[in-house]
This record gives sequence, structure tokens and C-alpha cells, in this order.
Amino acid sequence: MAVLTIPAEAKATPEQTRAWCAQLEAGDILYFPQSPVPLSADDASFLLGQQQTDSSLHKNIAYKPNVNRLSGFDARTANPAAVERLHQVMRRYSQSVVAFLTGFLAPYQARWQLDYASFRPQEEQGRDLPLRRRNDLLHTDAFPTRPTHGARILRFFNNIHPARTRDWVVSDPFAEMVRQFAPRQIAPQAGNALSRAGKAAACAVGLGAAIPSLKRSPYDDFMMRFHNFLKENPQWQAECPKYAFQFPPGSSWMVYTDTVPHAVLAGQYALEQTFLVRPEAMVRPEVSPLRVLEEIAQTQLA
Ligand code: SIN
Ligand code: FE
Repeated sequence: MAVLTIPAEAKATPEQTRAWCAQLEAGDILYFPQSPVPLSADDASFLLGQQQTDSSLHKNIAYKPNVNRLSGFDARTANPAAVERLHQVMRRYSQSVVAFLTGFLAPYQARWQLDYASFRPQEEQGRDLPLRRRNDLLHTDAFPTRPTHGARILRFFNNIHPARTRDWVVSDPFAEMVRQFAPRQIAPQAGNALSRAGKAAACAVGLGAAIPSLKRSPYDDFMMRFHNFLKENPQWQAECPKYAFQFPPGSSWMVYTDTVPHAVLAGQYALEQTFLVRPEAMVRPEVSPLRVLEEIAQTQLA
């Protein structure tokens, strides 16, 4: 895996935008030392001031662009003017990221579903969260309530802290990493002493037959289980290859977080916009988790 630095003067030619998509899909992080979607000084100081002035805006704030709604604050105690301002800032941020990526990732031709944006005002170091919600353990992303049916999770981040880096650790991407686990480790239904054929079948069963929730595909069930499996696996957490990166104040980065195992160890105040990119938009479908898993399972999963 690699962190590719995108200089401010990089030109979005057709070949270049295709190469960026391919690099992202293969598990690289694209890093912008100066964010291409900077916040105005006013908006930034408003966001940084929230912690002090309004404790009901402390939490992770979500903005849903498709319905233009803000959530994650305590409506009973929040100051309505601050909520309104926050809503506007998040809306503008979301729109600027979309406008930027529409050109920068032109091969996708906006064949994405716009997912939530978030404001992350909390200090990440030492957060006390239940294990499956901890983000300081390496994991690949999957959403318990928002199945993607094979669409990929692309996330764009801004570190808006005025002085501190946001400290990540990442590991090798899904297509390389998933094959190190025996099907029985990641597919709970599989037995232990299996023949090769039995393993393939058990894998298919494990991937395909976990009681699907109403709208989740077998693919979504697998990705959710895999997220939990990685966080609950101390040996893998300790032994997997790790690459540390500190994103400086004012920078942006983007990455397919469904396939690049990532953890945030420290940092405060980030903005983020998530996109669900459809399988047919991929420029390298062969490394997509859907294809990789379908090849292992020898069956259709979404
Ligand atoms: C995560 O997606 O695990 C958290 C990343 C971050 O907030 O920096
Ligand atoms: Fe994550």
C-alpha cells in the first residue's frame, strides 16, 4: 500500500483521473497536503469553537446530504442558531467535496450514492468505546444499518485541527489480506477439519448463508462480520504489517475504507464525506472486495 501525494498543481487529465481511480481501488491513499476543499476561516473557527460553547454538539455529527438533515446532537439542549449554522457548514462542505471529486474522479461519472458526511470533534486518543466501535483498532469499514450490496465505501477527510496531526495506521489491502485467513476463521458456519472441496463449499455457505437481515446481501453480512473479526483478533492486530501516517492540519486524504484496514490513534476535529461507489463504475473490478469474495466463494454474493 502507498500514500500518494497529490500536488496542488496536478492536472485532472483523462489518463490521470483513471490512474487515480485505479490507485484508490488497489488500496492506496491519495493525500493532499493542502486540502482542495478548504474551509473558510469563519466556518473553521465556528467548528472549533463548538466544544467550548455548546456541549450538546460534542458528539459525532452526521449530515445526510440526500435529505439535507443534520443529526447526532442533543436537540433538547442545543442552541438552535448553532445547529442552523452547523447545518449550513456541513451542507457547504458536502457540496464542495462532491464538486471537487466530480472532476477529480471523472471516470466514476458520479456513479456513486452520496452517503453521510460527518464532523468529528472528539479527541480520538483514549476514547472509551465498546470494542466493535473502537476506531483505534485496525478494521475495514462496514455499516450495520446501511448495506451497500457490493458498492464500495470511499471516504474523503479533512483535518481541520489548527495545529495537530490526525494520526492513522493502515495495513495491506483486502485483496492481499483476506486470503491469509482460513474460510473457517471468517465464516462461522464452516466446520474445522475440511477437505479442500469442503472448504470451498463451507466458505460459500459461510459467506452466503448467514441469516441475512431484510435488506443485507451475503456480501454485506460478510463485510460486517469481517469488520468485527479484525477488531476482535488481537493476534492479527499485533502482527499485521503497519504503516503509520500523520495527516497535518489543513490536509485532506481519501481512501476506500472498506478494503484498506485503518485505525485512528490520535487527533481531533475532522470532517469527512462518504461515497458508495457502484461496482460497475470500478476501473479495476478484479480487486474489488465483491469480486475477490465471489472468487473465493465461487458464488454470487450481491
Ligand atoms: C474510521 O473510519 O475508522 C475513523 C477515521 C477517522 O475518523 O480518522
Ligand atoms: Fe473506519
